[in-house]
Amino acid sequence: MTVEKLRFGILGCGVIGPHHARAISGLQSAELVAVADVVPELAEELADEHGCSHYASLEEMLSGLDLDAVCVCTPSGMHAEGAIEALEAGKDVVIEKPVDVSLEAADRLIEVQRATGRRVAVVSQHRFDAATQAVHEALTKGEFGRLTSGSADVRWWRSQSYYDSGGWRGTWELDGGGALINQAIHSIDLLQWLMGPVVEVTAYAGLLAHEKIEVEDTAVAILKFANGTLGTIVATTAAYPGLTTRIVVHGDRGSAIIDDDELSYFHAASEGQEGDAYGAGGGENQAEQVMQHYGEAASGPGAGADPASLSMAHRDQIQDFVEAVREGREPLVNLEEGRRPLATIQGIYESARTGGPVRIEE
Ligand SMILES: NC(=O)c1ccc[n+]([C@@H]2O[C@H](COP(=O)([O-])OP(=O)(O)OC[C@H]3O[C@@H](n4cnc5c(N)ncnc54)[C@H](O)[C@@H]3O)[C@@H](O)[C@H]2O)c1
Repeated sequence: MTVEKLRFGILGCGVIGPHHARAISGLQSAELVAVADVVPELAEELADEHGCSHYASLEEMLSGLDLDAVCVCTPSGMHAEGAIEALEAGKDVVIEKPVDVSLEAADRLIEVQRATGRRVAVVSQHRFDAATQAVHEALTKGEFGRLTSGSADVRWWRSQSYYDSGGWRGTWELDGGGALINQAIHSIDLLQWLMGPVVEVTAYAGLLAHEKIEVEDTAVAILKFANGTLGTIVATTAAYPGLTTRIVVHGDRGSAIIDDDELSYFHAASEGQEGDAYGAGGGENQAEQVMQHYGEAASGPGAGADPASLSMAHRDQIQDFVEAVREGREPLVNLEEGRRPLATIQGIYESARTGGPVRIEE
């Protein structure tokens, strides 16, 4: 029996829209049928590349042909409005990160999603990386013992020309903030997926290396997670020449480090192994063994900090979304999951403004 392909339209054909197009084209279960952008040449160019229709707005795309799902790839502060329009037209939706720039917009969207009963996925493609999956599985199985701390470091560089490449970049209204909400959100999502929800933050943020943006290019935060564990975040687009993204988690029986999406260190004490006074002196690095299990090499060259080198990790997440729609289940990163890193980031902004700890409400 052949299952019909899910018919996708893409809204927004700038930097990330074409990655969605390639991801969809790489799936047996999906088909790209249309793209739309307010800049007609961008839509036309992407449509030509993929042999699909092109439109100048979501409204025209929705009335122009029969779609099952829409990928929202517009500037961040326009995500909820695009997604709501698509949901109300009866479509399932994939939304680029962040879900939107405010919790109010996210909550409005959640309300519409519940009322329509459609499926929505929020992009967090690195949840599907083999390294992330391996560490998540180890934590779920309790291989690291009692969790104690975790951190996310995103030490990147973005020049003024990057911010100038889109009028919305580096603005509160449409980017929603800077290094935290645009760049570090991926790592913040992974950190809280691995460690559990963040319940309190204390933070500083600054604009230290750019003149013509409104938002932070550097932020640091300390975190308390719901399970009592502690953490830190360093997020910057002011670290020339742009170094790695690193996620570290520790427990009293093991630790892992993910560098640029690759597992660079993993050690879990074996069953019955007694801890010695000073630990295992760094411990045997089991990363290679662990990744063999996932059919991948440990610590290869990372996809890294260059958005142009975005891998096809989107494909795995869109595959999960297609299966969720077909099976009538929630996608791995549904709206409630997509809201969590936004809530943490909003808490960090509030703490940086007020100078004190901020509780993160569910
Ligand atoms: N998951 C990732 O790794 C990743 C990487 C890059 C960007 N993103 C996210 O994707 C989103 C878009 O980022 P980008 O870098 O592609 O931005 P971009 O400015 O390059 O592209 C956005 C496009 O949307 C179009 N647009 C704006 N308003 C529109 C409307 N009302 N209708 C139709 N089209 C409209 C613009 O003309 C532009 O072509 C952002 O939210 C960003 O955070 C995610």
